[in-house]
Amino acid sequence: MHILLLLSMFQHTLAGLQPLCQDDERSALLQFKQSLTVVQCSFDDYSSAYPKVASWSQEEENSDCCLWDGIKCNEDTGHVIRLDLTSSCLYGSINSSSSLFQLVHLEWLVLSNNHFNFSEIPSEIKNLARLTALSLSNSSFSGQIPAELLELSKLESLDLSFNNFHLKLQNPSLANLADKLANLKVLHLGQVNIASTVPHALANLSSLFFLSLTDCLLQELAQISLAHNQLTGPIPFCFMNLNKLSTLYLHNNQLTGHIPVEVRKLTQLQILRLAENQLEGSVPNSIFELRNLQAFDLSYNNLSGIVDLNMFLLNLKSLTSLVLSSNKFSLLTGTNVSTNLPKFTVIGFRSCNISEFPYFLHNQYELASLDLSSNKIAGQVPQWLLNVSTKSLEYLNFSDNLLSGFGQDLFVLPWSKMNTLDLGFNKLQGPLPVPSSVSIYSYIVSNNQLTGEIPIQICSLNGLHALDLSYNNLSGMLPECLGNFSVELSALKLQANNFYGIIPQTFINGTNLMMIDFSDNSLQGRVPKSLANCVKLKFLNLGDNQITDVFPSWLGTLPELEVLILKFNNFHGKIEEPQTGFEFPKLRIIDLSHNSFTGNLPSKHFHCWNAMKDIKASKLTYLQVELMPYDVLGFTYYGYADYSLIMSNKGIEIEYPKLSNLITAIILSDNNFVGEIPASIASLKGLRTLNLSNNNLRGYIPLTLSYLTVMESLDLSSNKLTGQIPQQLVELTSLAFFDVSHNHLRGAIPQGTQFSTFTNDWFAGNPGLCGEPLSRKCGNSEASPAEDDLPSEYVLAFGWKIVLAGYASGTIIGVVLGHIFCTRKYEWLIKTFRLHPESSGRRRRHTHIM
Ligand SMILES: *[C@@H]1O[C@H](CO)[C@@H](O)[C@H](O)[C@H]1NC(C)=O
Ligand SMILES: *[C@@H]1O[C@H](CO)[C@@H](O)[C@H](O)[C@H]1NC(C)=O
Ligand SMILES: *[C@@H]1O[C@H](CO)[C@@H](O)[C@H](O)[C@H]1NC(C)=O
Ligand SMILES: *[C@@H]1O[C@H](CO)[C@@H](O)[C@H](O)[C@H]1NC(C)=O
Ligand SMILES: *[C@@H]1O[C@H](CO)[C@@H](O)[C@H](O)[C@H]1NC(C)=O
Ligand SMILES: *[C@@H]1O[C@H](CO)[C@@H](O)[C@H](O)[C@H]1NC(C)=O
Ligand SMILES: *[C@@H]1O[C@H](CO)[C@@H](O)[C@H](O)[C@H]1NC(C)=O
Ligand SMILES: *[C@@H]1O[C@H](CO)[C@@H](O)[C@H](O)[C@H]1NC(C)=O
Ligand SMILES: *[C@@H]1O[C@H](CO)[C@@H](O)[C@H](O)[C@H]1NC(C)=O
Ligand SMILES: *[C@@H]1O[C@H](CO)[C@@H](O)[C@H](O)[C@H]1NC(C)=O
Ligand SMILES: *[C@@H]1O[C@H](CO)[C@@H](O)[C@H](O)[C@H]1NC(C)=O
Ligand SMILES: *[C@@H]1O[C@H](CO)[C@@H](O)[C@H](O)[C@H]1NC(C)=O
Repeated sequence: MHILLLLSMFQHTLAGLQPLCQDDERSALLQFKQSLTVVQCSFDDYSSAYPKVASWSQEEENSDCCLWDGIKCNEDTGHVIRLDLTSSCLYGSINSSSSLFQLVHLEWLVLSNNHFNFSEIPSEIKNLARLTALSLSNSSFSGQIPAELLELSKLESLDLSFNNFHLKLQNPSLANLADKLANLKVLHLGQVNIASTVPHALANLSSLFFLSLTDCLLQELAQISLAHNQLTGPIPFCFMNLNKLSTLYLHNNQLTGHIPVEVRKLTQLQILRLAENQLEGSVPNSIFELRNLQAFDLSYNNLSGIVDLNMFLLNLKSLTSLVLSSNKFSLLTGTNVSTNLPKFTVIGFRSCNISEFPYFLHNQYELASLDLSSNKIAGQVPQWLLNVSTKSLEYLNFSDNLLSGFGQDLFVLPWSKMNTLDLGFNKLQGPLPVPSSVSIYSYIVSNNQLTGEIPIQICSLNGLHALDLSYNNLSGMLPECLGNFSVELSALKLQANNFYGIIPQTFINGTNLMMIDFSDNSLQGRVPKSLANCVKLKFLNLGDNQITDVFPSWLGTLPELEVLILKFNNFHGKIEEPQTGFEFPKLRIIDLSHNSFTGNLPSKHFHCWNAMKDIKASKLTYLQVELMPYDVLGFTYYGYADYSLIMSNKGIEIEYPKLSNLITAIILSDNNFVGEIPASIASLKGLRTLNLSNNNLRGYIPLTLSYLTVMESLDLSSNKLTGQIPQQLVELTSLAFFDVSHNHLRGAIPQGTQFSTFTNDWFAGNPGLCGEPLSRKCGNSEASPAEDDLPSEYVLAFGWKIVLAGYASGTIIGVVLGHIFCTRKYEWLIKTFRLHPESSGRRRRHTHIM
């Protein structure tokens, strides 16, 4: 894309008569076309993809190839000098005999955003010796970059980025490249696999003014930091000699050390991105000598000390983007500068130890993004702030401060273009403020102390994708409009308030709702039948209310439903056997506990719950609802809402702020279920949590439970179960919790494997049980044969203990805040900082909306 920008400047309209294109070049082009396939173009928000070669044909009246799409000829000679097939939906391999290499007059070759089937770049590329610009970005090339490419000594612009680390620049190396291609002005090597150290040889590319090595370094360092620590080094000093640099992207690496004072030498610098490294020390004053700086991003480093905002305001008058978020420094915002301020569009002061709204915001009229989250700003939002950038602000994040309100009367917020508003985790009191922007996309005001009803004005926000009012003290009835005011709405989170009355009946066909959480309120009445219209619904939590209904088996038609929580309500009656078409095909968590269900356990339902039959997830991820992407400032924003819930597992109530896709749970405890535990439960081979406690179940513990080999938590306590504990249950080596207390079980407790870690209260209240861990010894008639076969000393001798220690903790089914397999969230701000379009294979950035 840079190439396009750069070169489009040179493009002039063709005037006058042109010679026809040369026959040999025409046929080379047609051959090239024929060697490839045109595939279905993928239309996303970015690409204006279309098959340019469609206009290429042999027909007589169309024979002037200079007029074909994507081609430009020299006006005098008629030779094809430019070939631009970017985003042309091409698929296929290119090899050394490709007719492409007959187009020896080419000066400009752009093949980006196609799929060349992991072809290697043929060494015949050297035939195109007149090339000044070459882009193979995002086009599925692979292999070592050939030395012949470095013979293209006229190259000024080279973009090999985003071939997903399949392209290697190792032999020849980046240093060789720097050596040979001395005329380069534009170099894009994001996601090129460079296995050398940080390239000091680059210092010799003295005319290099645009450098984006970001992802190749990331790759390099990420790879090598596992074995050779020397590559997690400081910012290469040599960069400070690249005195024509206007853009320096070094973000997302593991660079350490200080920001070099010599950065002052980069006098042309306009964009400096050092975000997401491990830089430390203080911000050097020489930064303030970079008078041309327009965008500066230091976020997510380990910089410390005190940073004086005045210095930025006084010295860097061209700044429009300043992102200092999430370091270890304190930002002094007590500025005395009030005139001739830079005009900002992006301010990111997340987690900067700020305790008041920075005064300079008074005079900002063009802000699009303002992030002051995770600071210590307390008290009322000052009146003047409600005048800041009212016509331009699209993203505002004040979450995680100590704000108490917006002034007494205000409840309509002034910002008319607001897209994303996050006021969560403050101490806001009074009525719920309503955004005035009808284009609002996400509104998050969870975890405050808001009171009163949901104002009816909410109903006019018909572009909302996510509404999160959870964890407040809101009350009143839910407005009727909630089910249908926005067909875009994907996530509706109202849990942990004081809402009462019935749930609206207005859920309409065509709704995008994927997550509904109404739990922990005082809602009454029945489950609204119109929920059956929410065919995209994945997560429904109506727990902890006063709903009076029978089991809503009709929800089983929802093809995507994964989580159904109805616990702590007044559900009653038998759970009827499922009818065809009501099968909950994707259900993985069902919690019906603490209701008044009667009758037998829903054994035929168990057969249908296919999602619980898989043992392995293909890839470990978090369960979440993804919001529709939207564009702000030319960048796409992907928001998501994690599945979160409180569930009793392993005998305690646990709050899961996130859930992994391994989780499966059936929780039917504290009801009046009768009858036996159906053997059909054994078909749910992926089941990890089963809780049937506090019912009236009778009969034996089925042997088939031992087929549930990933089971981690099994609670059968407080029933009327009889017979022995099946010896086969020792095969459940993942079992970490096994409570059968308060039943009528008898005989010997199985011994070995996990059972040796179980505590005696899990067996209590069964007068007929004996053996470890109970103190009651088994008589001869009670001892089980397996126990004789496998004395525990023998088991230990074979190293079971180590195995046990590994298993006993169980698989990670949910994670407590902190994270195990998630990488850092890419925040919206970091994205918006990229003022200039950047060809990026990593656009899919997530922002945590809730
Ligand atoms: C190159 O690919 C063409 C098909 O596109 C094939 O006919 C030819 O044999 C290939 N040549 C070589 C040297 O692999
Ligand atoms: C893509 O590459 C594979 C493996 O090299 C090859 O078998 C296949 O024919 C290629 N497809 C096309 C359309 O060139
Ligand atoms: C890469 O190219 C594909 C088409 O082959 C396109 O759909 C995709 O959006 C491109 N990615 C980027 C980051 O431009
Ligand atoms: C830069 O080039 C000069 C001469 O071309 C050479 O002497 C010097 O060693 C090079 N510097 C680096 C860091 O490669
Ligand atoms: C950040 O700096 C602190 C000391 O100020 C150090 O303990 C910590 O390890 C550093 N973190 C990283 C990620 O470098
Ligand atoms: C304003 O602040 C700057 C930097 O903190 C300081 O150098 C300057 O003297 C101050 N000016 C006034 C008028 O206080
Ligand atoms: C945050 O700022 C306060 C002054 O407002 C200061 O006392 C405190 O040390 C700062 N904390 C850190 C971690 O820098
Ligand atoms: C907000 O701006 C309007 C007009 O620009 C002005 O009349 C009003 O006094 C301002 N309010 C505050 C609190 O600054
Ligand atoms: C929440 O609101 C109710 C009335 O709706 C009130 O009784 C209660 O004290 C409030 N709780 C808090 C923590 O403000
Ligand atoms: C929502 O449903 C109500 C009641 O059915 C209806 O009156 C209203 O027109 C609907 N609104 C929209 C936007 O569909
Ligand atoms: C919604 O769709 C269902 C079936 O697709 C249909 O029976 C029902 O009448 C529709 N409801 C409305 C309000 O359009
Ligand atoms: C707002 O900031 C908080 C804390 O810094 C962050 O967790 C949250 O994801 C941000 N919200 C949005 C919508 O970006």
